[in-house]
Amino acid sequence: METLDTVRAEALDAVGAAADLDALEQVRVRELGKKGRLTLLLKSLGGLDAEARKAAGQALNVAKEALAAAIEARKGELARTALESRLAGEKLDITLPVRPEMRGSIHPISQTIDEVIAIFGEMGFTVAEGPDIEDDWHNFTALNIPPEHPARQEMDTFYLPGTRDGHRLVLRTHTSPVQIRTMCRQPPPLRIIAPGRTYRCDSDATHSPMFHQVEGLVIDETTHMGHLKGCLIEFLRAYFAIDDLPVRFRPSHFPFTEPSAEVDIGCSRTRGSLKIGHGSDWLEILGCGMVNPKVLKACGIDAERYQGFAFGVGLERITMLKHGIPDLRTFFESDLRWLRHYGFSALDVPSLAFGLAP
Ligand code: DAH
Repeated sequence: METLDTVRAEALDAVGAAADLDALEQVRVRELGKKGRLTLLLKSLGGLDAEARKAAGQALNVAKEALAAAIEARKGELARTALESRLAGEKLDITLPVRPEMRGSIHPISQTIDEVIAIFGEMGFTVAEGPDIEDDWHNFTALNIPPEHPARQEMDTFYLPGTRDGHRLVLRTHTSPVQIRTMCRQPPPLRIIAPGRTYRCDSDATHSPMFHQVEGLVIDETTHMGHLKGCLIEFLRAYFAIDDLPVRFRPSHFPFTEPSAEVDIGCSRTRGSLKIGHGSDWLEILGCGMVNPKVLKACGIDAERYQGFAFGVGLERITMLKHGIPDLRTFFESDLRWLRHYGFSALDVPSLAFGLAP
C-alpha cells in the first residue's frame, strides 16, 4: 500500500505540473475524488486500532487540506497566465481609421419648434397640447366661427366620419382649438403656446396638406394690445436674430379676435432674392389680436373681468424664410440629402442664453 508521504509528494508534483485547468481537474479527481488515492487511504484506516487510526487520520486530513489549497493556488496561476496570453494576443490597433457612421440630424421644423419654445419660455409661457382630430365645436364654433360661416370653407377642412359629443370630427385646421381646450380646462391667468400639426386640403409650393403652427394665448385681467405688440416684436427679433427688425401691425379680421391684426416684418427684394431685415418691403408673417369676448364666454370665462391676446404663426413659413428653403413640399419628402443639408446637429439645443441655430 502506498504511504501517505509518497502520495502527497506525487500529488503536489502533479498539481505543479498541470499545464491547464483540465489537467488540474484530472489531478483533483485522481487524488481527492470518490475513488481518489487520498480518499482510499482514508477508507483503509478502518483496519487500524483506535490510537493509530486517530494519528493517521489527522495526518491524512492535513495532507488533504494542503493538496486542496495547492490546487486552488494553481488554479489562480493558470487563470492569470491564460488572461495574460489573451491580452498579449488581442492587441488593438488604435491607428486604424474609424468606420463611417450615419449621423442623424434634427429636422428644421423640430428645430424651429424648439427655438419658439425657448423664446416664449423665457417670457413665461408654458406649452399646451391638443388632439389632431378635433370636433367642429373646438375647431370652429367656440372660436366664433358658427356653422355656415365662410371661414369653414376657406380653411379647406378635412372632415372625418363620426362625431364626438354630437359634433362633427375634423382634422384641426389650425392650433387655435388648443386655446379653447386650455380655457375650458383651466381658470385664468393663462400664458401658453401650442405648437403642433394642422391640416388643410391644399398642396403646392407653399402649402402642404399637413403643416405646423404655433398658437399663443395670454389671458388675465390687465393684458392689453401694448403687451401683444411688445411680445410679438420681441419674439420676431429673437427668432430672426435681428435686433432692430422692423415689425408692422396691420388691421385685419379674424372671428376669434377683436381687434385683429396681421403682422409684417421688414424685408428687401432684389433681383428675385428676398432678404429679411431692412428694406422698403414688408412680408406678412402672422395673425393676432385681442381675444374676442364671445370666445371667452364660450369657454365659461367672465369676459367682464378677463381679457388677453392670441396669435397664430405658420412654422414652415418662418422656417423657410429664416433658412432660405424655397419649397414647402420638400419638408415632408423625407429625402435624406435634403435633411443632411438643412438639418441641425442634435447637440445644438437652442436657448436664448447660448443662442439659437445660426
Ligand atoms: N388660426 C389662424 C389661422 O390658422 C391664425 C391665428 C390668427 C391665430 C390670429 C390666432 C389669432 O390666435 O389671434 O389662420
